[in-house]
Amino acid sequence: MSIIDNKKQPSFHIRTFGCQMNDRDSEIMGQLLAEQGYVESMEIEDADVVIVNTCSIRAKAEQKAMSLLGALRKAKKSRPGMRICVAGCVAQQEGLELCERMSHVDLVLGTQNLYALADLLKNLDGTQKVAITLSDAYEIPAFIPTLPAIREYSVDQIDSNPAPASHPFRKFLTIMQGCNNFCTYCVVPYTRGREVSRKVKDILDEAHALVDAGISEITLLGQNVNSYGRTNSVTPDGGSYSFSQLLREVAAIQGLKRLRFTTSNPKDLSSELMRCFGEIAILCPQFHLPVQSGSNAVLSRMNRKYTRELYLQQVKELRSFRPDIALSTDVIVGFPGESDADFEQTMELLEEVRFHSSFSFKYSDRPGTRSADFADKVEELVKSERLTRFQHRQDEICLEQNLLYVGKVLPVMIEKLTQDGMVGRTESNHIVHIEGKIACIPGDITSVTIHHAGRHSLNGRLNSTQQKGAA
Ligand code: 5AD
Ligand code: SF4
Repeated sequence: MSIIDNKKQPSFHIRTFGCQMNDRDSEIMGQLLAEQGYVESMEIEDADVVIVNTCSIRAKAEQKAMSLLGALRKAKKSRPGMRICVAGCVAQQEGLELCERMSHVDLVLGTQNLYALADLLKNLDGTQKVAITLSDAYEIPAFIPTLPAIREYSVDQIDSNPAPASHPFRKFLTIMQGCNNFCTYCVVPYTRGREVSRKVKDILDEAHALVDAGISEITLLGQNVNSYGRTNSVTPDGGSYSFSQLLREVAAIQGLKRLRFTTSNPKDLSSELMRCFGEIAILCPQFHLPVQSGSNAVLSRMNRKYTRELYLQQVKELRSFRPDIALSTDVIVGFPGESDADFEQTMELLEEVRFHSSFSFKYSDRPGTRSADFADKVEELVKSERLTRFQHRQDEICLEQNLLYVGKVLPVMIEKLTQDGMVGRTESNHIVHIEGKIACIPGDITSVTIHHAGRHSLNGRLNSTQQKGAA
């Protein structure tokens, strides 16, 4: 018997691992299930359907998902009616083999098959296993998110106890899927397939729907947004259309307060796009530009198709358009063949750019990637030492950069109210702990004077005229 016949309101729980792309996919799956009458369960143990949305970008992310799946074997023993679905990159890579390895898994759903989830669940009767991992001729469906009505509550109730439920105010909007770059270390082109851009109209419809529902900030999402519109036609007349054009059109939506995007590959970063930072008022001065390594020899073996010189030139150009732009990056240490001298070049690049923040990882072999077969693997101990050194210096630079905000008055978007104040975010994406409260709701922007900086967040005070109750 299928889950849906079993009960009036079956429940689901989704656990997400990995990237923002997966976060967004989980949201979409949640909405699709809600439309079919499922209710979300806060506890994994109570759910009729558990979806594990996996990530395989690095070995660690995959291990975490696998250990949850291991634990679910036990849970299913005590509740045999539970259906377990594995989605995301591990699902795409392993397909039916995953069901064979893990007999408690009922459904394996590839990265391009999200929209089939509800139908597949309906037909699952617990006797057969289903794995679907199609990746041919993929077109991302039009999708209009449903969100609670605008401004569910008015926060003059800020002193109410408990605090009002948080209103969604910030959303990701997927503009493209997949990647054609084949960096030698990366599974994404295999797990998410070839690059496909969504139609401009579908993106704008979704953005309008988000803003109409009260969303203040949108982050346009794709594996490599700089190449938006290059591999398939995105307009009805099939004419050329760039990511910068898309940014300008989304930015023009009345009522949208902040716009961001991620992720970019330096090899496709155009001057036209960099100029947007100087020209689009709501485009936040924050840019994630993964460099991966400061050594040209390593970049070449990674198949990144740019040099450290080009990267540094881009940093200069970005800062010429927006001197206050906060730059962040991704770095891999211990790529096969990375010598001490190569690593020193990464450290030197860190000193030159002085990133506001970075994500750094030890290289790990990923099945099916080219670098998994490279010789000259770097010893685990050396990788660890390099990672510690990089992270230690980055931490110092984070603090040095953050101290530059002290004394400044910055627009901060409120995220939540706390017992003694509020928490918000600057345009540069820094978290700010704010003393004092004003009548506002998440997504409103208020002016805050920064008086203290830590490595990972700032502290500020509301300008005195904004204090609640002030004249
Ligand atoms: N090993 C270590 N880090 C990796 N990343 C991607 N693949 C690997 C790998 N095999 C990192 C890159 C990428 C980020 C999302 O994950 O830095 O930008
Ligand atoms: Fe992976 Fe490179 Fe594509 Fe990024 S650009 S998703 S690192 S292949």
